[in-house]
Amino acid sequence: MLADKRILLIIGGGIAAYKALDLIRRLRERGASVRAVMTAAAQQFVTPLSVGALTADHVFTDLFDRQDEQDVGHIRLSREADLIVVAPATADLMAKLAQGLAGDLASAVLLATDKPVLMAPAMNPRMWAHPATRRNQVQLLADGVRLIGPGRGEMAESGEAGEGRMAEPLEIVAAIAAAFGGGPLAGRHVLVTSGPTHEPIDPVRYIANRSSGAQGTALAAALRDLGARVTFVTGPAVVPPPVRVEVVRVETAREMASAVEAALPADAAVMAAAVADWRVTNASGQKLKKDGSGKPPALDFAENPDILAMVAKGSKRPRLVVGFAAETADVVAHATAKRARKGCDWIVANDVSPATGIMGGAENAVTLISDQGAETWPRMGKDAVARKLAARIAEALA
Ligand code: C5P
Repeated sequence: MLADKRILLIIGGGIAAYKALDLIRRLRERGASVRAVMTAAAQQFVTPLSVGALTADHVFTDLFDRQDEQDVGHIRLSREADLIVVAPATADLMAKLAQGLAGDLASAVLLATDKPVLMAPAMNPRMWAHPATRRNQVQLLADGVRLIGPGRGEMAESGEAGEGRMAEPLEIVAAIAAAFGGGPLAGRHVLVTSGPTHEPIDPVRYIANRSSGAQGTALAAALRDLGARVTFVTGPAVVPPPVRVEVVRVETAREMASAVEAALPADAAVMAAAVADWRVTNASGQKLKKDGSGKPPALDFAENPDILAMVAKGSKRPRLVVGFAAETADVVAHATAKRARKGCDWIVANDVSPATGIMGGAENAVTLISDQGAETWPRMGKDAVARKLAARIAEALA
């Protein structure tokens, strides 16, 4: 997939720059050629000498180097690449491209290119969380830039834990392959459900749950990054849906069921939505008012369709059906029973007791239940869970 591809790698100034060396090695092992541009800050972390030894090419560092400009020039640098990868992409480089600044070689190349750009952000968690970086991220995605990561984990320099750690070189390689239409899930269609559902009581009130949609969104993005075509059916989630997936927005469980039905056939279905079990059958067309009697309104309920069971037992059953089980006690026992009852292949079980902070939080601790038994994963970020699960899905569909 990567044979003969020309990658222009821009190395930004952060401690993760050392991982760029491994990235170059892995890309060249796969037959790609790599040409490197280093910012001034990057050279504080790794030297052009080591980078050049691995790329077996000249390393470009200066917009105003007359020899370099004469020989290649920043316009040709970007023209002679099939893909531009920025790893690590610092907050500074993201900001420069989001704003269209071009005062140094790296940013000038990024502004001058018409080739796809993939950025692997890496920075301190507070810098990543800063509203300015958030705005730049949204702008870059809107401009068509692909982003891989960052993940959660311990920061190399401070030992601080949080989101901001650069994706691992192999994950970046997979994202590069996916950008070229490759990746282990190329040609596969995966359906992902996500978020809560809202079940109306009257025009302004509804019954809902605490699902933020974070895990489903991370999964859809991870599956997309492995090359899958993703249909993302989402209830009203807090987290915005990923880019470059087909988004179908629904509100109620019944709407979700129809959207799921319409999205089949698929090679795999990953049902991460927290679907309301019940809907109100006597929802009022008008806003319910207190009638002065002090009595609450009587609501009648009917059971919602079980979308997961419907997919797993239906005539258009995908090859792999993955359900989730949010439990507050006896997680493995309940989830194992659920797997059998719903007819799905895997259940991703987690403990959502309030003490775990999982529902609506950034981390997840899951147990994967399959016909091979139960496998408990260490607690990690929801994006890391997503990437691990996406890799397992790719293996199962291989
Ligand atoms: O039965 P329970 O809600 O615990 O099952 C959770 C799993 O079933 C999740 O994968 C969820 O998306 C799915 N589900 C569904 N339709 C429902 C209820 C749950 O698809 N009505």
